Amino acid sequence: MTATKSFLKEIDYTKEELEALIDLSLQFKKLKKQRIPHNYLEGLNIALIFEKTSTRTRSAFTVAGQDLGMNVTYLGSNEIQLGKKESVADTAKVLGSMFDGIEYRGFKQEHVEMLAEFSGVPVWNGLTDTWHPTQMIADFMTVKEHFGQLDGLTLAYLGDGRNNVANSLLVTAAILGINVKIIAPKALQPKAEIVALAQQHQTGGDITITDDTAAVKGADILYTDVWVSMGEEVDFKERIDLLMDYQLNQALLDKTANAEAIVLHCLPAFHDTNTEIAQTIYEQYGYAELEITDAVFQKYSPVIFQEAENRLHSIKAIIYQSLKNI
Ligand code: CP
Ligand code: NVA
Repeated sequence: MTATKSFLKEIDYTKEELEALIDLSLQFKKLKKQRIPHNYLEGLNIALIFEKTSTRTRSAFTVAGQDLGMNVTYLGSNEIQLGKKESVADTAKVLGSMFDGIEYRGFKQEHVEMLAEFSGVPVWNGLTDTWHPTQMIADFMTVKEHFGQLDGLTLAYLGDGRNNVANSLLVTAAILGINVKIIAPKALQPKAEIVALAQQHQTGGDITITDDTAAVKGADILYTDVWVSMGEEVDFKERIDLLMDYQLNQALLDKTANAEAIVLHCLPAFHDTNTEIAQTIYEQYGYAELEITDAVFQKYSPVIFQEAENRLHSIKAIIYQSLKNI
């Protein structure tokens, strides 16, 4: 791994590099819990660009940067020229001359790649329409904390099988050599090019793409995500109709025939009607729970919120590995 490596997508990293990031995340978690200062990057400056909303990723980058001793500047999409009055390339050159690293959450993967190319500083992908790589380090860190190791495990993802999180899980599990199943209706299965990438970078394990929920049998980790992702303009009802059979509920958990199985969710989740959008969906279509039932969500909430907390520790590891030799 070079000293100033960006994190734009998972395939830029080897199995060993991803494992090293997971282990470094676990070390940073220990330092944080023991209140041992770790301001190793004191005086550096990072910028956080968000074209889409965020709770976890923004908070994690902010606190991780501050814990590492850095100055962190948030650049919301309505507050900077990017994309409106100034190109990605020109913005990248300016930011690269002032900041030591840049986080970007937005729509197009090509934009985060351009930021890296033209800024000359490490760029971290905080989610695009195609990938969500920083989420993966937190997810597999959580899996490692829970099971003690990653080898031999099977992760089954249910729901929209061609969104950023599904793409990232498929490819990351393949790189790590973990068995991965994407269980989704045919219309929402991963694109052939994403499956091909996973196969090219696979170090072990099996890849399964199916529309049959019986495939959860034997899974150790069940994972789901929202049915409509940020920026998607789709008919919500059509999506619900396509995906209701893939809801993470107790009947589906029973199909794993594995009492030790855990449930993960990157969050936010539609598990009750305590949000404006969920309330509207309930009023319009009568569904109080979408991708995960409230009973399953509550039962597995300790590990789901552990996963959310791990965004902090893993993003800290990602920033540190990029900037430690600057
Ligand atoms: N999981 C995740 O990326 O959450 P946010 O959208 O809140 O950052
Ligand atoms: N697939 C979701 C992930 C949110 C963290 C989205 O892109 O909205």
